[in-house]
Amino acid sequence: MRVAVLGCGVVGTQVVRLLTTQADDLAARVGAPLQLVGVAVRDTSVERDPVVDPALLTADAEGLVTRADVVVEVMGGIEPARGLILRAIEHGAAVVTANKALLAQDGPTLYAAADAAGVDLYFEAAVAGAIPIVRPVRESLVGDRIRRVLGIVNGTTNYVLDKMATEGLDLEQAVKEAQALGYAEADPTADVEGYDAAAKAAILASLAFHTRVSLDDVDREGITALTADDVAWAARTGHVLKLLAIAERGEAEDGTPGVQVRVHPALVPASHPLAGVRGAFNAVFVEAEAAGELMFYGRGAGGAPTASAVLGDVVSVARHRVLGGRGPVESSYADLPVLPAEAARTRYQMRLDVVDRPGVLAQVAAVLAEHGVSIEAVRQTPVGDDALENALAAGEIARLVITTHAATERALRGTVESIEGLDVVRRVISVLRVEGA
Ligand code: NDP
Ligand code: HSE
Repeated sequence: MRVAVLGCGVVGTQVVRLLTTQADDLAARVGAPLQLVGVAVRDTSVERDPVVDPALLTADAEGLVTRADVVVEVMGGIEPARGLILRAIEHGAAVVTANKALLAQDGPTLYAAADAAGVDLYFEAAVAGAIPIVRPVRESLVGDRIRRVLGIVNGTTNYVLDKMATEGLDLEQAVKEAQALGYAEADPTADVEGYDAAAKAAILASLAFHTRVSLDDVDREGITALTADDVAWAARTGHVLKLLAIAERGEAEDGTPGVQVRVHPALVPASHPLAGVRGAFNAVFVEAEAAGELMFYGRGAGGAPTASAVLGDVVSVARHRVLGGRGPVESSYADLPVLPAEAARTRYQMRLDVVDRPGVLAQVAAVLAEHGVSIEAVRQTPVGDDALENALAAGEIARLVITTHAATERALRGTVESIEGLDVVRRVISVLRVEGA
């Protein structure tokens, strides 16, 4: 079985290592030896890890994909990765890729090409690195009905939020630490603005709901607007702030069933399993009708962990070739409409400073009632350590923390706008979604 690897960076090097050092075991598991026939890179003159045989390096990726039975794409980016995968498929090769950005942007083209050619296109490593989640959702849970998927699928942002929570760092300091440890890229935009998580959310939603969901369908908000104060208040109210990728069944205003997919920071109750996911770890929490709640946890990034998922796919697709045929594929038969962000229903926590005099709380509560948003709890907090302390202590200003029952994003936005317009409201400090309760 001829295997070509496209890319020899963080992940590619470890894929080559596993293919080389575990060759005998892999051959036994597949039923045929896996022969590494080439490793495509941009620059063949760069010194590589000694595990990579320099004789296998080539800058001719186009040629390499035509002489392999299994092509592993770990170069990243949209082009030339997309063109190379299509070329590999045209030549009858099975493809394994870790490229979530490409799958979220143009997965359907690639799936259709693989279908037409009758070859496998596997991508376990594209979502949450080492964690087996694509296969469980596509295969193990295919007899069930998934209601909701909540994921911490970006290690960099989880690390950053964890550092802010445990060490009181501000966002910038925590991002710098993540960069120093190699979690965040020199340009951390894809992580901190939620693009990486959104790509993974699109892939998970497509699989879970048998519906095509692309990156453009995902309502996305990163962590850059969060402050150390938000993180500290989360703890005070018994929550942990996490960047969540959420894919769930929902309903349009007219009751039409659909799916809603979003990425945003959320307050997770400290007792929820996702709250305990620390550092750069990932976890995906699945709620299915028959199975109930399941959580998949592990390393979502890094060369060796990601290579583990890639090799799992390589062995699977190679086995299929040995036995003849191909493995289970994505289906989009349900073809559910993707619902707009405004249709999302969740709970909210709002923090605001108001003038402390009789009737103020009633005015605020009335606005929520007008918008059909039900209050779950109101707390007038003791004074924090901010600049308003004196005013608060003098009894002029009160800080309210209002938690709502589930409401639509549309109703909540209207509520916040009206509250901001009240004379008695000094400022709305933050509005955060509460998930997982
Ligand atoms: P790197 O940037 O470390 O490596 C990319 C490799 O691809 C390099 O060897 C580079 O060659 C090669 N390459 C890039 N463009 C071309 C090209 N046009 N022609 C030939 N070779 C090319 O990336 P990673 O290993 O970190 O990531 C690879 C993929 O895995 C991405 O899709 C990423 O999203 C995904 N992934 C990564 C994870 C991680 O933890 N790093 C986790 C999960 C998924 P050269 O060395 O010559 O520059
Ligand atoms: N940048 C990603 C992360 C790598 O931080 O999780 C894995 O996709």
